[in-house]
Amino acid sequence: MQVKDSVGIVTGGAGGLGAGVVRMLVENGGKAVILDLPSSRGKDLAAELADAALFVPTDVSDADQVEAAVTTAVAHFGKVDLAVNAAGISPAHRVVDRKGEMFPMDMWQRTLDINLTGAFDVLRNVALAMSKNVPGQDAERGLIVNVASAAGLEGQAGQAAYTASKGALVQLTLQLARDLAIHGIRVMTVAPGIMDTPMLQGLDDKRKSELVDLHVFPKRLGSAEDFARLVRCFMEITLLNGELVRLDAATRLG
Ligand SMILES: NC(=O)c1ccc[n+]([C@@H]2O[C@H](COP(=O)([O-])OP(=O)(O)OC[C@H]3O[C@@H](n4cnc5c(N)ncnc54)[C@H](O)[C@@H]3O)[C@@H](O)[C@H]2O)c1
Repeated sequence: MQVKDSVGIVTGGAGGLGAGVVRMLVENGGKAVILDLPSSRGKDLAAELADAALFVPTDVSDADQVEAAVTTAVAHFGKVDLAVNAAGISPAHRVVDRKGEMFPMDMWQRTLDINLTGAFDVLRNVALAMSKNVPGQDAERGLIVNVASAAGLEGQAGQAAYTASKGALVQLTLQLARDLAIHGIRVMTVAPGIMDTPMLQGLDDKRKSELVDLHVFPKRLGSAEDFARLVRCFMEITLLNGELVRLDAATRLG
C-alpha cells in the first residue's frame, strides 16, 4: 500500500504520535480521519490540513460513537485503507501505595476500556469496512496498526492497568493477523519506548533527561516523526504482518 491516495483513520489523531501519522499521510498525498475526543486539538488540526483531513469527535470507549465515526469516515472519503489505534491513557497508581490506598478499580476499568476494548472495537469496525475494499498489491485490502508500549512487555511500577492493556494488544498481534488474513488485512503492533509527546507533559527537565538516559542508543527521546515513518514502512512493505516492532532505541524499562 502506498500512502498516496490512501485513507487512514487515526484514533488519538490529535495527540502526539497520532498527529504525526495524520501529518505524514497528508504530506504524502493521503487522507486522514482524526478520531479523538471533542476536547482535543482535532478540530484545529483538521482545519489546518483542509480537505485532506476530517475530524470526527469520538470517544473510542463508546461503541455507538465508534461505529458512527467509521461510517462517517467511509462516507466522506469513500474507503479506509489504514487504521492506527493511538488513542490511549496512562494513569499511574501502585497496586497498594505507601499510604495504603489500593489501585482504584474505576481507573483500571477506564484504562482497559480505552486502550484495549476501544482499540478492538475500532479495528473490528474498520476491518469490516476494509473487507469491502478493492484488493491492491498482494491482494491487500488494509492495514491495522495497534500502539502498545515497552511497558506492555516489561511492565512498569505504578502502571498495572496500562501494562495489562498494552500487553494484551501485543498478544493480539498474531491472532488478529490470522483472523483478518481471509480479508487481505494485515496487523502490526508498535511498542514505543519513551516518546516526546504531550503524554510526557507533566515531567520536568530532570525527569526527562533521566528518561533519555534509559535509551541505549541514540540518546534521545523518540518523536512523532519516528513513529510516522515506521507506520509508512508498514504501509509500503506488505510482507510485514503479525509482528511487533519495538521503537525504543534498545530501552528496557527498569
Ligand atoms: N509517549 C510515549 O512515551 C508513549 C510510549 C509508549 C506508548 N505510547 C502510546 O502511544 C499512544 C499515543 O500516545 P501519545 O504519546 O501520542 O499520547 P497523547 O496523550 O499525546 O495522545 C493520546 C491521544 O488519545 C486521545 N484519547 C484519550 N482518550 C481517548 C478516548 N477515550 N477516545 C479517543 N481519543 C482519546 C487523547 O485526546 C490524545 O489526543 C498511546 O496509546 C500511548 O499509550 C506512548
